[in-house]
Amino acid sequence: MSSEPSGGPPADLDASKLPAHIAIIMDGNGRWAKQRLLHRVKGHEKGAETVRNIVRACRQIGIAHLTLYAFSTENWQRPRTEIAALMHLLQRFLQSELPELKENNIRLRCVGQIQRLPAAVQEKLDTVMEATRTNDAMTLTLALSYGGRAEILRAARELARRVRDDRMDPDQIDERSFSSCLYTADLPDPDLLIRTSGEHRISNFLLWQIAYSEIFITDTLWPDFTTEEFIEILRSYQRRERRFGRVG
Ligand code: FPP
Repeated sequence: MSSEPSGGPPADLDASKLPAHIAIIMDGNGRWAKQRLLHRVKGHEKGAETVRNIVRACRQIGIAHLTLYAFSTENWQRPRTEIAALMHLLQRFLQSELPELKENNIRLRCVGQIQRLPAAVQEKLDTVMEATRTNDAMTLTLALSYGGRAEILRAARELARRVRDDRMDPDQIDERSFSSCLYTADLPDPDLLIRTSGEHRISNFLLWQIAYSEIFITDTLWPDFTTEEFIEILRSYQRRERRFGRVG
């Protein structure tokens, strides 16, 4: 990651219309590797470089929140060797990026069933989250062992407990109280959702939060996704009219 501070958006982007929160489904690492007759893990390694570039771009442009789908609850069904390699890669990433997260005033957060991750990964996450806790230029949220339905069920269980214990009336359950029980309670909903590698699916990502997100799907595989294409998506985003169900 670059140690340069935010330089603001490119001149042709309207700084007042930037998405506050961008969420990305990073897909296509395996296909990228297969096309090159490489092991899938090589695709993930190259994908980690793209993560570094896009985090850097977001910070420089002035995006406040970036959330990356790094490992889903369904990904636990992958071969054990691939899971181990991904966990190892994550640990290495956290280790190598900490100095620059600190230098660039970026706070790391994570969402998902973190207790399912290997202890060594949890420890590294704790270290980096603690070391960046007060950073406020940007938040980088990693979705790890994350599933949108599981997150919604978790919120429903929490609200049910409050009602059972007479701490809440059922009529007080509204969008606000429900959102406050999600992992993302302190984040705005994503304005923009990007998915790489051409699949037209949400894959259980931020199901509640993306109700009004603008969705962009690119055929580019995640390891090939560049800052230039990312900025092009921001340009298209700024040309869209967001109506939130109202008339234009
Ligand atoms: C999807 O590609 C990607 C993943 C399951 C993991 C995402 C991980 C990274 C981008 C690298 C490490 C992350 C961090 C934060 C350092 P796929 O394997 O499903 O690709 P395919 O659909 O082509 O098989």
